[in-house]
Amino acid sequence: MIASPSVTDPKLASLRSQFPVLERQVHGKPLVYLDNAATTQKPLAVLEALDTYYRRYNSNIHRGVHTLSEEATTAYEDARTRIARLINAASAKQTIFTRNATEAINVVAHSWGRANLGPGDEVLITEMEHHSNIVPWQILQEQLGFTLRYLPITDSGTLDLSQLESLLNQRTKLFAFVHVSNVLGTINPAADLVAAAHAVGALALVDASQSVPHMAVDVQALDADFLVFSGHKMCGPTGIGILYGKRDLLEAMPPFMGGGDMIREVKMSGSRWNTLPYKFEAGTPAIAEAIGLGAAVDFLQEVGLDWLWQHEHALTSYAYAQLSQVEGLRIIGPGPEQRGGLVAFTLGGVHPHDLSAVLDSDGIAIRAGHHCAQPIHDRLGIVASARASFYLYNTFEEVDKLVVGLEKAAQIFAF
Ligand SMILES: Cc1ncc(COP(=O)(O)O)c(C=O)c1O
Repeated sequence: MIASPSVTDPKLASLRSQFPVLERQVHGKPLVYLDNAATTQKPLAVLEALDTYYRRYNSNIHRGVHTLSEEATTAYEDARTRIARLINAASAKQTIFTRNATEAINVVAHSWGRANLGPGDEVLITEMEHHSNIVPWQILQEQLGFTLRYLPITDSGTLDLSQLESLLNQRTKLFAFVHVSNVLGTINPAADLVAAAHAVGALALVDASQSVPHMAVDVQALDADFLVFSGHKMCGPTGIGILYGKRDLLEAMPPFMGGGDMIREVKMSGSRWNTLPYKFEAGTPAIAEAIGLGAAVDFLQEVGLDWLWQHEHALTSYAYAQLSQVEGLRIIGPGPEQRGGLVAFTLGGVHPHDLSAVLDSDGIAIRAGHHCAQPIHDRLGIVASARASFYLYNTFEEVDKLVVGLEKAAQIFAF
């Protein structure tokens, strides 16, 4: 157990020194970066992997029979293998590179969904979803005529499992839910939810955007049919994400996009598709970004996912306790035992944008707004919230600075 993640802790100090951006000053103050749920900072290992690709072996993959292309292909496929191992996928072929988690969900919606959903069918999501796991289903619902249902939350910010039995039924074809909420922080019982979906013959899609970067996630232990996440929230570059799927499902699904690389053969009379995972990777992919994500996975495994989880848990528990003392501050979501490494809140009647601007003047970066999750804000009766989210390089001192900044904001706005 980590007693106090402080800048004086040698492991933390060494980790922080690997993130060049943390040396930055913002408005003359040292950067306190607490917007990790939106995107994390990048360590030297990732920056160097990108740099080396472009300096040493920049080339297109799969097609070339020359040294650079072979090196790029090997690095790209090695990255896939490392990512597959991270989530314990049975085969790297089940780990498809997408642009981000959003695109991964859209692949499932437009490929699996179009082939399997129609009038009379139901898709179940929850009230705590990110827009990425709401809007694709709404778009498809209009076109295909199935019914989209929402599993409600309780007032304490956990899923209302008493409603599950009635909402998850023989008509449900897919239960798509968030593993860790990006607003409430709630950690959902993913394996139980997957099992509940399977019990009625439905498939389960896990939005692991806020879990894979922070904890050990095992797709086989969860028995997830589909699982998605983004590289940029786990020290990797932007523009790269993952769709994991069970092999038989991916094999049966039609391609989402057509073009180069996803075909085995193209004739004027028609085409035949490539095997997995290439069937879903049309066109030149984000080669450097995939390689960068592979480096990020190595980095996280060196840090240790157990250490990372405990570190964030210690920080979150401390932040929860300290923020609870600030007058007029309302924390959204459950207590620290049930949440991942983030705390969203409101402070009196101060608009979160104003709060964020005051904190920014002290070099503190938080997120303010609806965090791409308007329905959950509607459900809570608020239009926006402020959110501090932690990662492996954050410290107790940074939480203290946040609290001081919020007290200052409360004085400025004198509510
Ligand atoms: C829970 C959750 N799902 C999906 C996403 C979408 O991620 P991306 O924008 O990288 O596709 C996010 C991003 O904040 C998220 O927090």
